[in-house]
Amino acid sequence: MKNTKRQKSDVVSRDKKENWVYTERVKDHFFNPRNFLTTDMEGKMKYNALGMVGSAACGDMMKIWLLIDEKTERIKDAKWQTFGCASAIASTSMLSVMLLENGGMKIEDALKIKPQDIMERLGGLPNRKIHCSVLGDKALQSAINDYFRRTGQNDRIRVEGKKVIDKVLNVTDHDIEEAVLEGAHTFEELQKKTKVGTGDPTCIPEAEQLLRFYKEKYFG
Ligand code: FES
Repeated sequence: MKNTKRQKSDVVSRDKKENWVYTERVKDHFFNPRNFLTTDMEGKMKYNALGMVGSAACGDMMKIWLLIDEKTERIKDAKWQTFGCASAIASTSMLSVMLLENGGMKIEDALKIKPQDIMERLGGLPNRKIHCSVLGDKALQSAINDYFRRTGQNDRIRVEGKKVIDKVLNVTDHDIEEAVLEGAHTFEELQKKTKVGTGDPTCIPEAEQLLRFYKEKYFG
């Protein structure tokens, strides 16, 4: 989302010399987060799935609890907590609303949610904050994996394996994903952040392919 002259900035980042504007829906979900697990609810919530992730991009954390109906596989309750920024709070709040609407989403459909779907419902996020919407999405996937584990459905667990791309410098596909989320949109920018291809130049075509893949995945 680009700032325009007529819009007043919500945040001014002095070090990066950027101005950010948040949509009214982002502000609403930040100031009135939906389905947030308050400390007095801790220990009282019924759940059969718990997911937790940390963001390599910023060090923030996200935790999601789900109550999944084992017969229908619909998500009947979803709560979350985070040590994250305004964008992480707003996007996870919106994610929880999406999971619970229309009688609860089926877990197969929940696994298909992309960070872009959450951002669309929020009316966009500043480019630098896109990685924050990934935090809730990854915690959700980890919670659903936990549900599969608890219900003995190990064959349904999805494991995201890391693949080493630059074997000399040990740069993985996850490093490339994080770099894209942090704003690397050209190969030069990617190389500046990860050094991929400087150790093993034969991996450059694969690195370029991953750059295109993650740009498409997160920025459309
Ligand atoms: S900056 Fe860490 S979640 Fe947004």
